Amino acid sequence: MSSKDTVQKTLVVAFLLCVVCSILVSGAAVILKPTQDANRILDRNKNILSAAGLYDPAVTPDSEVTELFSRFTTRLVDINEGRFLEADEVAALGINIDNYDQRKVITDPSLSEALSKEDDLADVKRRALYQMVYLVEDQNGELETIVLPVSGYGLWGILYGFMALEGDANTVKGLSFYELKETPGLGAEVRNPRWRALWPGKKVFAEDGEVGLTVVKGAGAGEHEVDGLSGATLTSRGVANLVRYWLGDTAFGPLLKKLGNS
Ligand SMILES: Cc1cc2nc3c(=O)[nH]c(=O)nc-3n(C[C@H](O)[C@H](O)[C@H](O)COP(=O)(O)O)c2cc1C
Repeated sequence: MSSKDTVQKTLVVAFLLCVVCSILVSGAAVILKPTQDANRILDRNKNILSAAGLYDPAVTPDSEVTELFSRFTTRLVDINEGRFLEADEVAALGINIDNYDQRKVITDPSLSEALSKEDDLADVKRRALYQMVYLVEDQNGELETIVLPVSGYGLWGILYGFMALEGDANTVKGLSFYELKETPGLGAEVRNPRWRALWPGKKVFAEDGEVGLTVVKGAGAGEHEVDGLSGATLTSRGVANLVRYWLGDTAFGPLLKKLGNS
């Protein structure tokens, strides 16, 4: 070791290197955050459009997503009261709908609630009190499409997605999942366009008012049943459970029935 290479100097150089690197890394994180946020929103919007059958990654360029999504109005639903909140109520809750994240508020006891074991059909443990839904209305103000957030446990974790219904709030337009931990080729086949194509046209409510829409093992029959995924019975059951929960009486069911009658 030459006289210049003291341990002290080595430590100082190492320390300075760490400082420079941490400044570079945190600087990059700060600079990239707006782009990441914009990409997250773009991705969410694509999934909402996809559920509504308006987006196909093979043919829809990103540049059209904003235009297509501009037809949607975002509303907050009070899940326990089964109604849309007015803008002043949203403001009074201190919620800014542009950056509200109903998955993040799950840890906030003032904006979310625990579900009892009996109610928790989808096995999600907690839910946001105010749920973001997306509406398309025609020129006469008639509801054309409603897209609802859905989530529920499959085999390996919670699947997150959107269910789109027609203006009658009873006929399925589509179902898309944007996040899941299921196995590629097995449970993750819920994203396969061929399986997704089985959903449009199915009806949510049975004659007795209960959710009839379900996924069955094997081939589905009639207007409520969708074929189960072969080799992925557990994920299929998870999807059936989340559909029954989110469209049912203790979640969006009362709102859907009101919309269907109006
Ligand atoms: C490595 C591995 C991964 C699996 N992943 C899934 C899955 O994502 N979803 C699922 O339902 N079943 C999955 N299974 C299969 C289940 O354990 C179970 O066998 C299957 O759901 C039964 O479906 P079937 O009655 O249609 O055969 C996996 C099995 C193995 C060994």
